[in-house]
Amino acid sequence: MKNKKIKIFIILLFVILLALAAGMYYCSNFTIASEVFDIADSKIPADFESYRITQISDLQGREYSDGAEKLLSLVNEQKPDMIVITGDLIDRTRADISPAVETVRRLAETAPVYYVNGNHERGSGKNYDKLLVSLRQIGVSVLEDKSVLIKKGGSAIELIGLRDITFRQLKEGEEMATLTADKIKELKSGDYYTILLSHRPELFDYYAKGGVDLIFCGHAHGGQIRLPFAGGLYSPDQGFFPKYTNGLYEEAGVKMLVSRGLGYSMIPARFNNTPEIVTAVLHSSK
Ligand SMILES: [Fe+2]
Repeated sequence: MKNKKIKIFIILLFVILLALAAGMYYCSNFTIASEVFDIADSKIPADFESYRITQISDLQGREYSDGAEKLLSLVNEQKPDMIVITGDLIDRTRADISPAVETVRRLAETAPVYYVNGNHERGSGKNYDKLLVSLRQIGVSVLEDKSVLIKKGGSAIELIGLRDITFRQLKEGEEMATLTADKIKELKSGDYYTILLSHRPELFDYYAKGGVDLIFCGHAHGGQIRLPFAGGLYSPDQGFFPKYTNGLYEEAGVKMLVSRGLGYSMIPARFNNTPEIVTAVLHSSK
């Protein structure tokens, strides 16, 4: 009798764990979350109070069975003033870029879209050239080491976009991290509240040295597998137990939002790691 009870307990435990694992797998691969962060800063002009910036990252050329309707509807619900795409829009292992292009075409119907590339665009060769042609036809602002002033009322904030470091070639004596900070300083046009779009989060310190206020990054895929209490397991270029995988980080007054992204690449599954869009709502704290 006692053995029978133990057997039933073990079977029940197994079924519960299996159901939990299946639920986590489903959420991590077939749903999309929407995270909203309030960003207050005295440098944000009053004209930009409640300005909404929605971030799309690491789509990795993903083709949704619903034609991305769920993603598009989630973005629309955010009522963004601006949409930013922080790289790996396409994936070097996927030949067809049309699902990504079609998704961006629909996104651009909602708000102006600003884009920076990632390491997968670098690895995509001619497909990246094709992507650029399509993005420009759609009206997307491609920020390959470029800055633009975003104007509202009588005020402006500055938006800087860096191309991914895999597109750079170092000259003798140059160091990638220092080059990154110097490039930002070169692109800054004044003492505006400055937002940086750059694919990878591990250069946070050097973005901050460049003199920006808010950074949008992706690349880490949330650490692919998220462990309870420990966070992300592994991210490219940060290794195991990476520091920057998800959410808002702040150091010395500089804020960085890291999106868990929407897709996956070499490892074709995420676990306990819901794909997401991220929205920053700006507040002038004057
Ligand atoms: Fe990446």
